[in-house]
Amino acid sequence: MAAPLQYSLLLLPFLCLFLALAFSSGEADRKVPAIFIFGDSSADVGNNKYLSGGKNITNNFLPYGIDYPSTNGRNATGRYSNGYNGADVLAHKHTNHKPKYRSPPPYLSLKIDNHTKEINITQAKKNGINFASGGSTLLWESNCSVISMTQQMEDFRNFWLQLNETMSSQQIDQLLSKSLFFISIGDNDIGAFLHEAFPNYDIKFPSFISNLTATYGNHLKDLYKLGGRKFGIANFVPIGYIPKVKERCNHELEVLMNNLSSTLPGMKYSIGSSYDVFMKIIDNPGALDRRQYLFWDDVHPTEATTRVFGDLVYNGSTEYASPINFKELAEDDNDLISMY
Ligand SMILES: *[C@@H]1O[C@H](CO)[C@@H](O)[C@H](O)[C@H]1NC(C)=O
Ligand SMILES: *[C@@H]1O[C@H](CO)[C@@H](O)[C@H](O)[C@H]1NC(C)=O
Ligand SMILES: *[C@@H]1O[C@H](CO)[C@@H](O)[C@H](O)[C@H]1NC(C)=O
Ligand SMILES: *[C@@H]1O[C@H](CO)[C@@H](O)[C@H](O)[C@H]1NC(C)=O
Ligand SMILES: *[C@@H]1O[C@H](CO)[C@@H](O)[C@H](O)[C@H]1NC(C)=O
Ligand SMILES: *[C@@H]1O[C@H](CO)[C@@H](O)[C@H](O)[C@H]1NC(C)=O
Ligand SMILES: *[C@@H]1O[C@H](CO)[C@@H](O)[C@H](O)[C@H]1NC(C)=O
Ligand SMILES: *[C@@H]1O[C@H](CO)[C@@H](O)[C@H](O)[C@H]1NC(C)=O
Ligand SMILES: *[C@@H]1O[C@H](CO)[C@@H](O)[C@H](O)[C@H]1NC(C)=O
Repeated sequence: MAAPLQYSLLLLPFLCLFLALAFSSGEADRKVPAIFIFGDSSADVGNNKYLSGGKNITNNFLPYGIDYPSTNGRNATGRYSNGYNGADVLAHKHTNHKPKYRSPPPYLSLKIDNHTKEINITQAKKNGINFASGGSTLLWESNCSVISMTQQMEDFRNFWLQLNETMSSQQIDQLLSKSLFFISIGDNDIGAFLHEAFPNYDIKFPSFISNLTATYGNHLKDLYKLGGRKFGIANFVPIGYIPKVKERCNHELEVLMNNLSSTLPGMKYSIGSSYDVFMKIIDNPGALDRRQYLFWDDVHPTEATTRVFGDLVYNGSTEYASPINFKELAEDDNDLISMY
């Protein structure tokens, strides 16, 4: 197998879609107790900074982060953006009146000790955890250089086991069934596939896509088994790739989610169409300054692009988020099937 890592770091994908409806644990009226975020550079809020001491991570230097608000000078935050990314933008959207709100922290920032798996549960329960890692893939293990989706699932399981030491299973189910699970992954896989399969996409596509959706589906089923019920999924973005391939992948992603929701009682989902948002912005670039360029680097969107994405996926029509939008996903508390 070719080494997709280096390639995938170049092709770190595009949009992020995290509706971080997080609330600190004291809120009486909150509907969403926490958000758990999985994915690649579209969602990473700093996990990669903790890898190899952050020294060899492509985005851990200015001008990345140049527009990120800070009280002690400008600095890179580990986000693949000039400022906030989608995890932040959507969080702010839902928490306009909570200025101190921050999007869920990177998993690796919660570790109490580098030599054990223990994390700060008190902090994690406040608004959730972000497991995402730039360059991450579903199908390839990336030589531990970044955190693969498989490893992100392991990290979530560790968190779950720690919860299980202090909470009853009913309490865990209460917490997790109302929480949001946001996932933005797969663009690096498609990039690696196109690179490897070139030029025989058509021949190799069926086995690739069934592998991709089966793997994605297994992770979703595992999250469901652990108590997750509400899933916000970003679809694939056509940057630098052949749009037709992305369209076929996005179709299969829709079929997958529809399949899962019809077999897993109480599962809810929204697919946020990064693809359609991207196409819309290409068609209507509007007035742009630095904060409003479409791309910040070769493949990553600016904060401004991410904000458009946030608006459309959070509260837009079914063109941008379906079968329901992210706001409806967060608010839909009916008939979440109890596990008891
Ligand atoms: C992992 O590292 C090995 C040895 O350094 C290399 O041959 C292989 O291509 C790498 N795989 C990936 C997925 O990067
Ligand atoms: C864990 O390691 C990272 C660097 O690899 C270091 O920055 C951090 O302070 C360490 N954390 C603890 C709790 O020792
Ligand atoms: C940084 O990563 C590159 C590419 O993966 C590798 O060739 C290089 O040796 C790494 N440098 C350090 C200091 O780890
Ligand atoms: C920015 O980050 C670098 C490396 O992590 C650190 O040495 C520096 O003090 C930081 N600067 C500010 C203004 O926080
Ligand atoms: C865990 O996080 C809380 C804040 O949420 C902090 O007060 C506490 O000191 C942290 N515990 C450890 C062991 O770092
Ligand atoms: C899925 O893709 C991975 C990465 O290319 C490969 O190692 C694995 O064998 C594939 N699995 C199937 C069932 O095709
Ligand atoms: C969760 O906690 C319960 C009660 O302590 C225990 O019986 C059970 O084995 C734990 N589950 C796992 C997967 O460790
Ligand atoms: C969806 O379900 C159908 C019928 O069970 C199955 O044939 C198909 O492979 C599934 N597709 C995906 C993407 O999960
Ligand atoms: C959602 O969209 C509707 C219809 O466009 C609008 O009336 C409403 O204010 C929006 N809500 C939020 C929270 O953005």
